[in-house]
Amino acid sequence: MFFMRLRKRLRSSPAEPGQAVDEINQTEAAVPDHESNGRRRLSDVPYLLPKDLDEINRLDFQHYVLRLALGRLIFAPVDEQLRQGGQVLDVGCGTGRWAIEIARLYPLTHVTGLDLEQAKATTPPPNYRFIQGNLLQGLPFADSTFHYTHQRFLVAAIPLERWPGAICELYRVTVPGGWIELIELGAETRNAGPCLQQLIAWGRQLAAPRGIDGTQMSRLGEWLQQAGCRQIYTHTLWLPVGAWAGRLGLLFMRDLAAGFNGLEALAVRACGITPEHFRQTIAALEQECNQHQTRYACYLAAGQR
Ligand SMILES: C[S@@+](CC[C@H](N)C(=O)[O-])C[C@H]1O[C@@H](n2cnc3c(N)ncnc32)[C@H](O)[C@@H]1O
Repeated sequence: MFFMRLRKRLRSSPAEPGQAVDEINQTEAAVPDHESNGRRRLSDVPYLLPKDLDEINRLDFQHYVLRLALGRLIFAPVDEQLRQGGQVLDVGCGTGRWAIEIARLYPLTHVTGLDLEQAKATTPPPNYRFIQGNLLQGLPFADSTFHYTHQRFLVAAIPLERWPGAICELYRVTVPGGWIELIELGAETRNAGPCLQQLIAWGRQLAAPRGIDGTQMSRLGEWLQQAGCRQIYTHTLWLPVGAWAGRLGLLFMRDLAAGFNGLEALAVRACGITPEHFRQTIAALEQECNQHQTRYACYLAAGQR
């Protein structure tokens, strides 16, 4: 299994609690835009997906699907370090679900979730905090602050040409000896039928003017190496889509359908299709993916600074 044989121990000592708070330089909140179908999207960042209650619910749902699929929350060999304490950063934390679970699992750590805006009021554990920030404008933290820097599912947020710089920014805020971990869904599939292929093609059409390219996510390891990481591990997990693969496949299929659903207004505007055509294509996914026994690539990569 991925990383199972790794015995490396982290040597860095935990940062002082609250250390990074002094470094915060809060960015302006991104501007929201409401679409005709009621979905809310940020208009002054490249991020493609909606920022509204439906999307919050989807992200929470997706978190549980991923946890079921991966069987764990962390792949980098940081367990021993986090048991002793230390600083954890989750970039693009969304609802904060992953970061809050990490804070509960490792009560001696200080976990920071960073995103363009806070998803919803929760009562997080005392060792979790939310910081507003924009990765593309630089992270509001001093160099060498975090022992473990995690970033998941920012494929629809970072233009292709910004990926190497974004990973250098994660590297900058990670302590020497600390770990950076990345997880992304791309656009690569196995046995995709015509509806899934069409939805991915529409997605690429919407992403292209923003410079976003989901076909390049298998390069995470290469970008970690370019940033200066060593001990780089990469793994591609082929997630099953559809009830043919049991509960996980069914849940992931629903997550995927809900994710595409969030692109409807943009697709109707940019691809010259009707909302009905878009919805019918999504509705056909379930049967199609079962018939074809479809799989979707999920890329994991980690490297040590
Ligand atoms: C698909 S969600 C993933 C959320 C979370 N990482 C998860 O796995 O559930 C992407 C998140 O990245 C955030 N995001 C988009 N662009 C960003 C940026 N430039 N800086 C920081 N966060 C960003 C979005 O607001 C959204 O919450």
